[in-house]
Amino acid sequence: MKLSFLVLPLLHLSSLSNLCSAAFFTSPSQLSKKQYDFVIVGGGTAGSVLANRLTENSKVSVLVIEAGVNHQGNLNLEVPFLGVTLSGTQVDWNFTTTPQNGLNGRVLPYARGFVLGGSGSINLLTFNRGSDDVWNRWASLTKDQGWSWNSVKKYYLKSSSLVPPADGHDFTGQANPAVHGNGPVEVSVPGFSLPIDDLVVSTSNQLGGRFSFNVDFNSGKFVGVGELGFMQSSIGGGERSSAATAYLEPVESRRNLDILINAQVTKLIQSGTSKSGPIFQVAEIGQPGSSKRWQVMALKEVILSAGVIGTPQLLLLSGIGPSAALTSLQITPLVDLPDVGTNLADHPLVPNYFQVSSNGTWDDVLRNGDNFGATLGLWQASRQGLFVNSPGNTLAYTRLPANSPALAGISDPAAGSRSAHTELIFVDGFAPFGSVPQPATGNFVTVLTAVVSPTSRGSVTLASTDPFAKPLINPSILSTNFDIQAMVQAIKDAQTFLNATPWQKDFKPVPFGDLANARTDTDKASFARQNSVTVNHPAGTARMSPANSNWGVVDSQLKLKGAQGVRIVDASVFPVIPECHIQGPVYIVAERAADLIKSAYGL
Ligand SMILES: Cc1cc2nc3c(=O)[nH]c(=O)nc-3n(C[C@H](O)[C@H](O)[C@H](O)COP(=O)(O)OP(=O)(O)OC[C@H]3O[C@@H](n4cnc5c(N)ncnc54)[C@H](O)[C@@H]3O)c2cc1C
Ligand SMILES: *[C@@H]1O[C@H](CO)[C@@H](O)[C@H](O)[C@H]1NC(C)=O
Ligand SMILES: *[C@@H]1O[C@H](CO)[C@@H](O)[C@H](O)[C@H]1NC(C)=O
Repeated sequence: MKLSFLVLPLLHLSSLSNLCSAAFFTSPSQLSKKQYDFVIVGGGTAGSVLANRLTENSKVSVLVIEAGVNHQGNLNLEVPFLGVTLSGTQVDWNFTTTPQNGLNGRVLPYARGFVLGGSGSINLLTFNRGSDDVWNRWASLTKDQGWSWNSVKKYYLKSSSLVPPADGHDFTGQANPAVHGNGPVEVSVPGFSLPIDDLVVSTSNQLGGRFSFNVDFNSGKFVGVGELGFMQSSIGGGERSSAATAYLEPVESRRNLDILINAQVTKLIQSGTSKSGPIFQVAEIGQPGSSKRWQVMALKEVILSAGVIGTPQLLLLSGIGPSAALTSLQITPLVDLPDVGTNLADHPLVPNYFQVSSNGTWDDVLRNGDNFGATLGLWQASRQGLFVNSPGNTLAYTRLPANSPALAGISDPAAGSRSAHTELIFVDGFAPFGSVPQPATGNFVTVLTAVVSPTSRGSVTLASTDPFAKPLINPSILSTNFDIQAMVQAIKDAQTFLNATPWQKDFKPVPFGDLANARTDTDKASFARQNSVTVNHPAGTARMSPANSNWGVVDSQLKLKGAQGVRIVDASVFPVIPECHIQGPVYIVAERAADLIKSAYGL
């Protein structure tokens, strides 16, 4: 009697963990198996999508290895508006760039998510799909129509869905539900309206042209020479929607999925030789501060989803990359792939501050503890108020004027005539993204200007053969004439926009700080070099190319060239950086990759 009373609840507990649940490990020593069908390196944005899709088939076993921490229980990660506070905390790798020549030798912090959901757990939530030109260029560069706009449409629809904004307002005219899908990532227009929203739209109506209103950026249809509209963000019910919340959490009950966190893959180990080159189906795992290493085998493939920094770092540590550079680091070259770690592209961003006469900005919330507490309290109680938003409610994508000095003597770097060169994000307060702290008093509007078709290219290289040492990251921000001239035009556009009559009644914006003194184009270029940071959109360090070409790192099926058993699925495979915020394209790439893998193994 007594015994069965004790045993029953125990059985109940063990059945919960053994029969219904993915195993969750925090040390490689806890792994119950040494072999899985697929080993996914990096439980970030792309890695979480693959973990979900590949375990749909209960016969397929998957291990996800994530270097970082769990995404749960971190309020700043859930509250959309507080995403800006996550950089430099325990969910960030805390990378920095090398001194940037284009930025007067400045060194920038380079945020990357160190957490399940990866950079998508710490990003600023803007959700874009890119114009049709973006994808059609990918198709032509890779000679694979599977990447064309028409082909990837189904993957966009499969990855996200448009949900009502947090405040439930009628968003007719702010987004077009007809161009959205039914996937797990929740996307919505701002759930808390701000005074400048109407001013931005009235200015769009008044200026038209490069600021013409587009009801939905995610239709793929770029309007004429520029477009302006409401921000769409990966936010549902007032909370961040990430690959961790949308793809990983819902499948944590699958028995064929194991998740290991706080553990880093330190290299891929050659496990054999095939006619396409060395086979790398063994991953070596370690933890910081210890020289102990474990090994795990992928029966089908190792999938590298370690992101645009982690993926090339791991390839180089494994002897896959430019042979001469590897040899000089005393790493034995196993696959000569000169493009590993090259071609790093990013979107530069300049915060342009304007002091305004109106008190209709959120500056006081950041300055005043009581106001901050009340705003957070409102979010906690009902998922309402300012904190349901990302920092900007509206944005514009613009093409440069045809006679722009940026375009003189070069072919247009944008994907096509329906893709932008620059972006403007309108923020109803002082967005402290750069080096200038929020002033103690005053009301501000920030226009974040970005170059979205940059021609600068940089690199990720090894500083050391220690897998726990940070690599050298050189995004070469503002290193070309195009990039600096395009940024100057965007800064001028921000001023033109805020000089329009709708702003003159209450807001009366006046350029603030260094911007006020940047009168000529030359001054504005200096201002940009002194104040630019990045939008945190690095891409391209393991780019895809046609299978038989002598450039690139993966083929258009995302298989590592010159080797066997490895596929790369993350933003590093982008053949060229898209003219939009890039998490949407990462989801699309990951969804297509899941289909490519399933079809390769008849799953
Ligand atoms: C601060 C910030 C703001 C951004 N804002 C936006 C935005 O508003 N809109 C937008 O569209 N995009 C934004 N982005 C970019 C977007 O979030 C990323 O492009 C996207 O999430 C990248 O996805 P990924 O799968 O390539 O890499 P990640 O999501 O970074 O995933 C890589 C994962 O691999 C793990 N990892 C790395 N190395 C190893 C290893 N050796 N072993 C095990 N695990 C490893 C990492 O910890 C991480 O979890 C932002 C990014 C940042 C950092
Ligand atoms: C990044 O820095 C923060 C603050 O010092 C620290 O808590 C965190 O552990 C660091 N991240 C990593 C991956 O070391
Ligand atoms: C903002 O200004 C209006 C009009 O001058 C005033 O009524 C209101 O109290 C002010 N609000 C704050 C928070 O200062």
